[in-house]
Amino acid sequence: MGTVGLFDIATPLAPLRAQFDAAIARVLDSGQFILGPEVEAFEREFAAYCGTRHAVGVANGTEALTIALRAMGVGPGDDVVVPSYTFYASAEAIPPTGARPVFCDVDRETGCMTADTVAAALTPACKAVIAVHLFGNVAPVADIEALGVPVLEDAAQAAGSLAADGRPGALGRAATFSFFPSKNLGCFGDGGAITTDDDAIAEQARTLRFHGSPDRLTYEQVGYNSRLDELQAAILRVALPHVDGWADGRRAAATHYERAGLGELVALPAPTPGSQPAWHLYVVRLERADELAAELGAIGIGARAYYRVPVHRQPAMTALAGDVELPVTDELARTHLALPMSPVLAAAQAADVVAAARWVLT
Ligand SMILES: Cc1ncc(COP(=O)(O)O)c(C=O)c1O
Repeated sequence: MGTVGLFDIATPLAPLRAQFDAAIARVLDSGQFILGPEVEAFEREFAAYCGTRHAVGVANGTEALTIALRAMGVGPGDDVVVPSYTFYASAEAIPPTGARPVFCDVDRETGCMTADTVAAALTPACKAVIAVHLFGNVAPVADIEALGVPVLEDAAQAAGSLAADGRPGALGRAATFSFFPSKNLGCFGDGGAITTDDDAIAEQARTLRFHGSPDRLTYEQVGYNSRLDELQAAILRVALPHVDGWADGRRAAATHYERAGLGELVALPAPTPGSQPAWHLYVVRLERADELAAELGAIGIGARAYYRVPVHRQPAMTALAGDVELPVTDELARTHLALPMSPVLAAAQAADVVAAARWVLT
């Protein structure tokens, strides 16, 4: 039985090495490193991929959220509904706008918020909902917008996923992405983007990412220094045409797990209705999650919990969260476990993981 890493970033990128080298050389030769032709071209290509009118490159997925919220008009005195079962940054991005995070629960099977869990959290001051496409699953954006609040998609984990009505990035009022190296579409450092069909939101995001200046002469707002750089954009342009193929590989890996009988041992993640998730993380549920992680780790199989303490219970958030009760979030925080997942996870590797899990759990 071989070792199986939690991720495999290197293998899918290896065949593209010559293209990456050429892209990096092109930027070095150009002598232009910030907001130049590579970022412009990537923004066009990424918007076309998502099916939106605009993409705005920014420094990372966290600032993408803060900038997008501000561009949607969120500010002091507003509430923003956000799940607590997510990466910390989904909520951390809210207070810098002056608004307050209001935490909502999620669905046990999908890990995503639903229209019902959002409705239960809505306040009169709610100005936006951050719909997190958790682990690559696709939150039901249209159902949530039917409640009458604009949705900002946090699509950091969902490049390559598909919903019945389009791609993440094009489902809500605006969306944000992270291009952190381990993401489904990653660069070789930090990077992020905002996508939207709304001209005013795109223009405001472009202004905010450059110090609140529309023309680099007048500084009309207090903004950010938050730009995607030319090197990362050039790298992303090489990777982007492969995202859908990698997503197919991730879905195939999930099928390998199912066929190897993983569902007899643990609860498998369920796609939301009509979606085809490009599983960024393959997260199962079981009561003995920490025991399984330790035993798998001991034999060289990567397994880890990501959100053991949900965001509303993190020290920086408890005062903002108040005494909100999120029973499904607490349960998932306790029982979730990510197993190895990558675009190249083979049937034999999935079978090894399942055999090891069977040995530990039965
Ligand atoms: C759901 C989610 N939101 C936001 C972020 C923040 O992205 P970044 O690390 O690029 O700031 C991440 C990833 O790290 C994430 O997984």
